[in-house]
Amino acid sequence: MKYALIGCGRVAVNHLHAAKKNGFELVAVCDVDPLQIDDLFDRAGLSDAERGAVRRYADHRSLLAGETLDLVSIATPSGLHAAIALDVMEAGVNVLIEKPVALSISDASKLIETAKRKGVTAGVCHQNRFNLSVQEMRRHLEAGDFGRLSNAAVTVRWSRGRDYYEQAAWRGTWAEDGGCLMNQCIHGVDLLLWMCGGDLVSVSGRIRNVQHPYIEGEDVGAATLTFANGVIATVEGTVNVPGDNLEEHLTLIGETGVMKLGGTSANTVDYSYFENGGSAPLLREETANVYGNGHVSLFRDFAEAIRQGRDPYVTLEDGKNALAAILSIYRSSQTNAPVTALPEDFGTMSMKP
Ligand SMILES: NC(=O)c1ccc[n+]([C@@H]2O[C@H](COP(=O)([O-])OP(=O)(O)OC[C@H]3O[C@@H](n4cnc5c(N)ncnc54)[C@H](O)[C@@H]3O)[C@@H](O)[C@H]2O)c1
Repeated sequence: MKYALIGCGRVAVNHLHAAKKNGFELVAVCDVDPLQIDDLFDRAGLSDAERGAVRRYADHRSLLAGETLDLVSIATPSGLHAAIALDVMEAGVNVLIEKPVALSISDASKLIETAKRKGVTAGVCHQNRFNLSVQEMRRHLEAGDFGRLSNAAVTVRWSRGRDYYEQAAWRGTWAEDGGCLMNQCIHGVDLLLWMCGGDLVSVSGRIRNVQHPYIEGEDVGAATLTFANGVIATVEGTVNVPGDNLEEHLTLIGETGVMKLGGTSANTVDYSYFENGGSAPLLREETANVYGNGHVSLFRDFAEAIRQGRDPYVTLEDGKNALAAILSIYRSSQTNAPVTALPEDFGTMSMKP
């Protein structure tokens, strides 16, 4: 299948690697900065022959006009995801979008509507669902080993300093990114929503910027989420940890089972107990960084989804749910009140003073 990548920055190397491992033929790349393309090819270890076979574009519309494609993946700044993905889908091409899927509810709704209308396969990169630890939790959940769930918690305690935010002007802005909940914690929130199931009926949250006065978004946030099925969950996220990333934990507690995932990106099983005796093995999946290994499995699933004409493992609706949960925390903090429904036009830009 013919594949093109739009946005050739930090995470892009995971896309190239995952696409190659799953048999996609890289035919084109697009970045507004040509140096980023060279740098990506270096990091991905492409040979001269491989580089020569890839056409380079500075504008994604020219790429879409010039190529016949089966898949485009988008790894641009977050504020561009929705607009570029809409163009890709309007061109009739399947699309895999980096997280967050969009920065407003209305944009996420437009993506879902367009994918349906154009009949394309579309999904979002919440690759941590493929962590071995997360798959183990999911297996126990689907087997009914937890019994009735009562509560869950996700904590993301990472470290991002001035050097990180100064790498690119879009980072930490309301127009292009959001703060640590939208950027760093969204994977954990996605896992929490996926495990707890059902709709959110109420979100109470608080965000602050304590240590990063040079960005617009929050560097710490905490929230309580109540689900329609009665489950209560908490979210705590920060990039204020001095030194290195400390941890990303996910704990799920049910009547007959409990599991705690840990490591720096929910990549270990730290504890499990199930009354039926089927405890999960303690495990530690080695990862090069907090992006984990999941992009390879995500692209594998996406290739199968295209071939089989089925939904991918992580859908646009999943991406919209994670986005909506975080926007609800933002709105709750802004209005000083619990959020039971978000206005369709709410987005990160609604947080701009
Ligand atoms: N799934 C994950 O674990 C994960 C990890 C890191 C980043 N991300 C997401 O991936 C996206 C990119 O993050 P990053 O850290 O790689 O950022 P980055 O700034 O390193 O890379 C973004 C690239 O997009 C290019 N770009 C900007 N405007 C463009 C346009 N109009 N057309 C084409 N290219 C354009 C930039 O020149 C840059 O090379 C973000 O949305 C981020 O949230 C996801």
